[in-house]
Amino acid sequence: QHCILLGAPVQEGASQRGCAMGPEALRTAKLAEALMELGHTVEDRGDVSPRVVPVVPHDNKAIHNLDEVSAWIDALAGQAHNAANSGTPIFLGGDHSMAAGTVSGVARAAAEAGKPLFVLWLDAHPDFHSLSSTGSGNLHGTPVAYFTGQSGFDGFFPTVTHPVDPANIFMMGLRSVDPAENAAMAKTDITLHDMRAMDEFGIVAPLREFLARVKAADGWLHVSLDVDFIDPSIAPGVGTTVPGGATFREAHLILEMAQESGLVGSMDLVELNPFLDERGRTAKLLVDLTASLFGRRIIDRKTKSF
Ligand code: ARG
Ligand code: MN
Ligand code: MN
Ligand code: MN
Repeated sequence: QHCILLGAPVQEGASQRGCAMGPEALRTAKLAEALMELGHTVEDRGDVSPRVVPVVPHDNKAIHNLDEVSAWIDALAGQAHNAANSGTPIFLGGDHSMAAGTVSGVARAAAEAGKPLFVLWLDAHPDFHSLSSTGSGNLHGTPVAYFTGQSGFDGFFPTVTHPVDPANIFMMGLRSVDPAENAAMAKTDITLHDMRAMDEFGIVAPLREFLARVKAADGWLHVSLDVDFIDPSIAPGVGTTVPGGATFREAHLILEMAQESGLVGSMDLVELNPFLDERGRTAKLLVDLTASLFGRRIIDRKTKSF
């Protein structure tokens, strides 16, 4: 594959600063080198820089940095669309508000290629707040509501041209969901595989079923990996740690299975906060997980797992 790295040093959507250093930490942890070792070509397009245009203030005065985040989303949507037309983009975050731009840009490119977009959302949080329902005012809690075309974003974030069908979203790892998010998601067809479901049913069968649906639809698969999906004991470099996350082996297995489907077209690596990391261990873990998504295996596997 031709991998295109695009840095999105956005931190205005999170409550703590530090995610702006994420792209550099991922480069320092040798992301490009790991991909090249797997036989891919890598083009690093550097970091996106937004052009801040003031937006009208929202009634919800709790919202932080609406102008800045809106500018990031606008810039990222264009760059993501462009990158998705010329290779397999890997977006280096940056807080998760960036996914409002990356996913909507990729959705546009996928639609132009005649493919519906499917999203594998790996996160402790569903990030399904609207601008009205967010209590924290941190915009990294809103991208999924935005890119699925839920109401309430008009005039604040750029207009979504190709909303993602909620039925095409599979969330794994959820363990911190706000009441307003639960209520809003109940009205959609998003597949929610929370930590309880992972404990009870495992990951393999439900993930196979999702991947089979993507294949049947000849879809484009986008993987959005939030650091807090993984248990904080092995991934401390994130501002929103939640206990009881995915294990090292679960995370690798999910990404290996996604790669073996042959359907992965793009990826987000988000919420890495190098200021909170311990000697780069979270950055290195993300690089290793990305390598699993791009073909690294313990041994050469003669047969595919499905
Ligand atoms: N639901 C919480 C909020 O809205 C947490 C969101 C965390 N999101 C993230 N991308 N880490 O503030
Ligand atoms: Mn900045
Ligand atoms: Mn998130
Ligand atoms: Mn999260």
